[in-house]
Amino acid sequence: MNLQWYPGHMTKARRAMEENLKLVDALVEIRDARIPYSSTNPDLAALGKNKKRILVLNKGDLADPVCTDHWEKHFVAQDYLPLSGDARQRRLGDAIKSRLSEWAEEKRQRDKLKGIVNRPVRIMVVGIPNVGKSTLINTLAGRASSKTGNKPGVTRGVQWIRLSSSVELMDTPGILWPRFQSETVGLHLALCGSLKEEILDPRALALKGIELLHLRYPDALPNKYQIHYQGDGAAFLRELALKQGLLLKGAEADLDGAGRRFLQDLQGGRLGLISLESPDNFGEQPHESV
Ligand code: G4P
Repeated sequence: MNLQWYPGHMTKARRAMEENLKLVDALVEIRDARIPYSSTNPDLAALGKNKKRILVLNKGDLADPVCTDHWEKHFVAQDYLPLSGDARQRRLGDAIKSRLSEWAEEKRQRDKLKGIVNRPVRIMVVGIPNVGKSTLINTLAGRASSKTGNKPGVTRGVQWIRLSSSVELMDTPGILWPRFQSETVGLHLALCGSLKEEILDPRALALKGIELLHLRYPDALPNKYQIHYQGDGAAFLRELALKQGLLLKGAEADLDGAGRRFLQDLQGGRLGLISLESPDNFGEQPHESV
């Protein structure tokens, strides 16, 4: 299965992000809690050098909480500031704001000692597509937020949303491109629904997903479908199709339909809280050193 693609607009998005990065003091990097290794771009370490960074493990409501806890500890040990949760919920937004207020206060103190006029801490949300950037920006901004508008010297088009008297959020997120050097990364992104569906073959993807799920969470498939995976993914999909009435003309099992159904269930959390990557398998990659 070939999952490599690199649309031209990503080059543009990256350039825009590099420009916008110059305007901020701190980054809020979002990754998918189910796949923290695959849902980042290692270049961010260099791009965001000298910036403070909060690492959000998002979609925590779909991830295995034990695994998320291991990841948090793993990232703390690497001097990250991880926070996990659900970008749609105020709770995560409040936890992030509380961190940002601490930084703003530290900055205020430093500026005061230097005798310079304190300016707000400016932050930007960054992450690969579909990881929850817009959702988090909306949650952080809330209904009561006010845009501060364009200011002289600020790149045209960038707007600042005032989160408090001391913190401003860029309304445009920075888009990173995931790394596709390894097929595993593409597979994990696809299984979590982070790649465009139309480029994927649902049956081939489901076959890989079923195998992976069986290895990591052996009870998930029989619990959900009352079907036991016996090492033959096609046979599993056939049984699933027949059981769920997914039939083609002539009452033939619709294997693509069954594949899609499995993927929807997996991505919607209906197969349980599932993480595809643990720090012991994916945590010690060279790119992780920050
Ligand atoms: P992006 O800007 O990084 O590209 O991502 P975006 O916020 O658009 O979020 C992508 C999808 O992920 C959206 O679903 C969004 O609702 C969902 N999402 C974001 N954060 C969370 C989370 O913490 N948990 C869960 N379960 N989902 C989350 P969508 O189906 O594309 O759109 P919609 O139908 O929700 O509007």
